[in-house]
Amino acid sequence: MRILIHGANVVTPDRTAVLNVLIEDHLIANVTADPIDPSSVDQAIDATGLHLIPGVIDDQVHFREPGLTHKEDLAHATRACAKGGVTSFLEMPNTIPNTTTVDALHQKLDMASGKCLVNYGFYIGATPDNVRELQNAKRTPGIKIFIGSSTGNLLVDEQAALERIFAETDLPICAHCEDETTVRANAQKYSASTDVADHSKVRDHNAAVIATRRAIDLSTRHNHPFHVLHVSTAEEVELIAAAGPTITAEVCPHHLFFNIDDYDRLGSLVKMNPSIKTAADNERLFQALLDGTIGVIATDHAPHTLEEKDQPYPACPSGLPAVENYLALMLNQVNQSRCSIEQVVSWMCAAPARVWNIKNKGHILEGYDADLTLVDLSLSRTIENQTQQTKCRWSPWAGETLTGWAVRTFVMGKEAYRLEDRTEHFAPEPVGHEIEYDR
Ligand code: DOR
Repeated sequence: MRILIHGANVVTPDRTAVLNVLIEDHLIANVTADPIDPSSVDQAIDATGLHLIPGVIDDQVHFREPGLTHKEDLAHATRACAKGGVTSFLEMPNTIPNTTTVDALHQKLDMASGKCLVNYGFYIGATPDNVRELQNAKRTPGIKIFIGSSTGNLLVDEQAALERIFAETDLPICAHCEDETTVRANAQKYSASTDVADHSKVRDHNAAVIATRRAIDLSTRHNHPFHVLHVSTAEEVELIAAAGPTITAEVCPHHLFFNIDDYDRLGSLVKMNPSIKTAADNERLFQALLDGTIGVIATDHAPHTLEEKDQPYPACPSGLPAVENYLALMLNQVNQSRCSIEQVVSWMCAAPARVWNIKNKGHILEGYDADLTLVDLSLSRTIENQTQQTKCRWSPWAGETLTGWAVRTFVMGKEAYRLEDRTEHFAPEPVGHEIEYDR
């Protein structure tokens, strides 16, 4: 199958240029300013006025399968991805069972094949005593450590266990950084509270800073690549700016765009871990993207049902869905002149591919996988709960009108999603493949 996308503004992290892109089977076969004869292809798409970006790679999602499929599953989540211009995801190990053995990892990969509309990869989770499994895992982007506990029962807090993981494994490591001792002490202090805003006092600035400092220290001493997940505070940005080359970091849209003032309006919908912080933190996190201290944006898509979220604090679970709206949230920022589309491509496509050594993705180059997203920077759409593809069917951004949306998503050369005359079309069968890594 040969598909020609002609006349699009093709975006790389460095520049945007009007080019013609030829897809041949699952690969990008040609990227050229020269005309390509449309009669030589099976399908020609006139993309004049649209922008073509590499498919977005979300390196932190919780898609809940197996074990928690009343909240989300791979079929719903990957439709949400395709609609959101996301062509690849890396999923976290806090499913049931946890993905903490090579067997569980392979079972997850087997289950995903034949279910996913976009490309899939799964982290292996660390426990205090599974170093042998972490050493033997190959079909994974890396190791996830919960240095502080969150949804589920994964936790590695003892120093000796952390030292072993950093010393005796080779895969890149990422971690949820909130200090368990600090969180538990704060939780004691607020144990009588039913006010969800106290979540940001329990999971406070200190908790995040202490754990991130600890992880940076481990990474530096062991010279082990380490990625700080969901940075939420200005203080962590300063730690990361001062850290050496083994450290990379990411921020999530909720830590960029929500803060403690939003509890009044949104209540438990904006309860997540790490907690939302202050408006000053929002500002510093955005600046950290612009100055390059933080290189990646990911969602931490963590759906729970509205019924679960409706429980009073502290029973209401932490996490929110975001995968289908985060590209639009950032393109809306482009339209507000807060950043450029080239920067968005760097943060959401090229950088995650680089951090996780993802083979053949993240760029629009000859020979790369044909994971491509066409976006209409002038299209405005309003987020509505009832039109969300995620199985939990809600968004904390419901009611917001954003300008700049994906209108067509290709996964390995096949159309996964198309928005045409306001109607959303999805590929009738799964077109996602297992992600491969350069090692
Ligand atoms: O708020 C969160 N929810 N943070 C996490 O780290 C986990 C996630 C979940 O799985 O629900």
